[in-house]
Amino acid sequence: MDRAGQYEDLRAEIESVVAGETYIPARYASAASLLWQAFSPRFFWTGFYVVDPLKPSELVVGPYQGTLGCLRIPFGKGVCGAAAQSQETLIVPDVHAFPGHIACDSRTNSEIVVPVFDAAGQLAAILDVDSEQPDAFDEIDRLGLEAICRRLLTA
Ligand code: SME
Repeated sequence: MDRAGQYEDLRAEIESVVAGETYIPARYASAASLLWQAFSPRFFWTGFYVVDPLKPSELVVGPYQGTLGCLRIPFGKGVCGAAAQSQETLIVPDVHAFPGHIACDSRTNSEIVVPVFDAAGQLAAILDVDSEQPDAFDEIDRLGLEAICRRLLTA
């Protein structure tokens, strides 16, 4: 199966696993697990930074698969913080060339980050996928991950 088809299957699987679940971290944890299982080792760190309800201009680490992640990322800092500010997907082929990149693990060479919105259209989290491979992510990843994130909190 091609990668677009893999993403479509994963989207359906994640939706059926989380359908009706009211505890939001369970949704994030299930998506992180299934994504990492499907695409590891290309997906090295795979998880969510959630908007802190007590400090709405800061992200705090949520469920993930991988090595220890930084706990907090202010909006505007690093790749996740930039995506939280712009509320748009970012593909970074070389993180070492990204101004202000936060290196939680020096093995990361490229990444993709995708915003997750709640049912009211408010930014709830950032999906962060980091890879040891340079230039690991393309438009297929963008479309596949955006489709998963679009339904993650509303399925
Ligand atoms: N890649 C992120 C930092 C988080 S970790 O690497 C897990 C960033 O630059 O925003």
